[in-house]
Amino acid sequence: MKRALGVCYYPEHWPEEIWPQDAADMVKAGLTWVRIGEFAWSRLEPQPGDLHLDWLDRAVEILGQAGLKVILGTPTATPPRWMLDKHPDMLAKDAQGHPRGFGSRRHYCFSHQGYRSESRRITEILAKRYGSNPHIAAWQTDNEYGCHDTVISYSDAARAAFQDWLAQKYQSTDALNRAWGNIFWSMEYDSFDQINLPNLTVTEPNPSHALAFRRFSSDQVVAFNREQVQIIRAHTDASVIHNYMGRITEFDHFDVGADLDIASWDSYPLGFLEDRLEDDDAHKRAYAQQGDPDFQAFHHDLYRAVGKGRWWVMEQQPGPVNWAPVNPAPLPGMCRLWAWEAFAHGAEAVCYFRWRQAPFAQEQMHAGLLRPDRAPAPALAEAAQVAEELAQMPEANTATAQVALVFDYASAWGWDVQPQGTGFDYFRLVFETYCGLRKLGLDVDILPPDTDDLSSYKLVLAPGIVALSDRLKVALKSYKGTAIIGPRSNSKTPELTIPDPLPPNLPGLDVTITRSETFRADMDRPLQNGGGIRHWLDHVETTETVSEITKAGDPVLIGNGPIRYLTAWLDQTSLTRILTHLCAEQNIATQTLEHGLRIRRTDTHVFAFNYGLEPATFQGETIPPAGVYWTPK
Ligand code: GAL
Repeated sequence: MKRALGVCYYPEHWPEEIWPQDAADMVKAGLTWVRIGEFAWSRLEPQPGDLHLDWLDRAVEILGQAGLKVILGTPTATPPRWMLDKHPDMLAKDAQGHPRGFGSRRHYCFSHQGYRSESRRITEILAKRYGSNPHIAAWQTDNEYGCHDTVISYSDAARAAFQDWLAQKYQSTDALNRAWGNIFWSMEYDSFDQINLPNLTVTEPNPSHALAFRRFSSDQVVAFNREQVQIIRAHTDASVIHNYMGRITEFDHFDVGADLDIASWDSYPLGFLEDRLEDDDAHKRAYAQQGDPDFQAFHHDLYRAVGKGRWWVMEQQPGPVNWAPVNPAPLPGMCRLWAWEAFAHGAEAVCYFRWRQAPFAQEQMHAGLLRPDRAPAPALAEAAQVAEELAQMPEANTATAQVALVFDYASAWGWDVQPQGTGFDYFRLVFETYCGLRKLGLDVDILPPDTDDLSSYKLVLAPGIVALSDRLKVALKSYKGTAIIGPRSNSKTPELTIPDPLPPNLPGLDVTITRSETFRADMDRPLQNGGGIRHWLDHVETTETVSEITKAGDPVLIGNGPIRYLTAWLDQTSLTRILTHLCAEQNIATQTLEHGLRIRRTDTHVFAFNYGLEPATFQGETIPPAGVYWTPK
């Protein structure tokens, strides 16, 4: 697999005279890909139907003639101002019912049929015109679905579409009433058009209603994306990609990914550390200029699964960003490290965001590879170094890991609707498990929730899955390794009600959860063997072997066969201890890595990345802060 670098470029922001020089400079820096077009609608169609595509023709030609491969974005994340005159009710509404107005981006409701038809129209115009253009080697649909909290909309359009969705799913209100338990509080309906969105209720809505709305909202994103993909595919064989974001769980990326050729994501390690992670200040200080040592890797592994093996980083942080609470500069070397880490996890391409810093508008303080005055910014040299190194790097392909972690978007919705205690966050639960594995030097594959084959893995973890899929249940029945299910896994029906028989109801394991409790974030409970548990504890009846208990004697890890149940959310100390033990049982080699050091194996190489502020030693080599090291396995 040939790996390559690229960059995001906005020809519409710059005078046409400088495009050829920009293109030549990109090639000189060793870049192969250039993404354009994704926010350019107001220049492509300044007035309804008044198309101005000639400038885009020229931009594509200049970039392509310079030797670059172009990724063309559909511009639907930024409908121009006239669109609102045409479709005044196209805006999404927040939970209070306020429209989310014009003046930034992503100001549309996925359910608005008028906007959906505009999205198809502009996609078709571009696909027809550029589908066979030899310079367009890939397409991007829209931009970052879900960013800025834009999946969920409480608009009238969403309400009407939700009612249709419910009618199709349940067929009758009787079936819906039964499935949701609407007899409770006399919430029964006798026609689908009585069913509102689950906002503005006096107290909490029925969790089944709220979860149905979350499923519906995800399906709307899938449908919106699918329409664009179908149109693009009718005109080209080029790959179709979407650029996902970090820690966005409001729509099912596996469902969107099923329609695409390649998954990609936008990696802003320093912004994410400050903006998306709840770690303490000491952690944030230690990694302020490097980013969390596991957050990027987690998403690389997640999106490798979403892309069915094919994935990119579509946007890579190049310097300070503008949108986090604080925006430090990366430690020298990090813009190289992040790219190499992505390649080590199997990325086919890494594109830096953006070519030149814009001196105007919202992102004027956001770095690029060039400064606003066209002089090089520090990341340009790092990108050029990666390009040179890539040219010398022999093939390095992804190897199947020994350990797998199941990730299920619907569970993020389920526990969001019904956390049952502050701090029970699905992403956090899975991510902490992932961090625990990585600190032991392990590679991890992430699996979708409908996985039906676990046989390649020695250890599988499935924390917090609301309801195990039928396929996963079948796979577990014949599984020969060790599967750790829980906490809270298989504890609900897909409608978020309590199943009969009581959970967890796992094949070959006699455990019944009799009740569950949550506790304050500052009231961890100690385990007998060291470390503790947080947030959650199931109380159980069981005849199985219990290998971990709390100091109070509550069972925590149950079973000694292939399927085991975990009753609690482990803290990092108990997680590390228990994972080490489970790996030893399965003959999976673990190691204790120095602070900030992380490793990743491809089929031929082992890579080491130093996210720490001190030099670290790996296989006798000293790796400086922000250093990358690789050697044949
Ligand atoms: C991404 C987005 C880009 C740009 C960038 C800034 O989320 O796709 O358009 O806004 O963030 O960091």
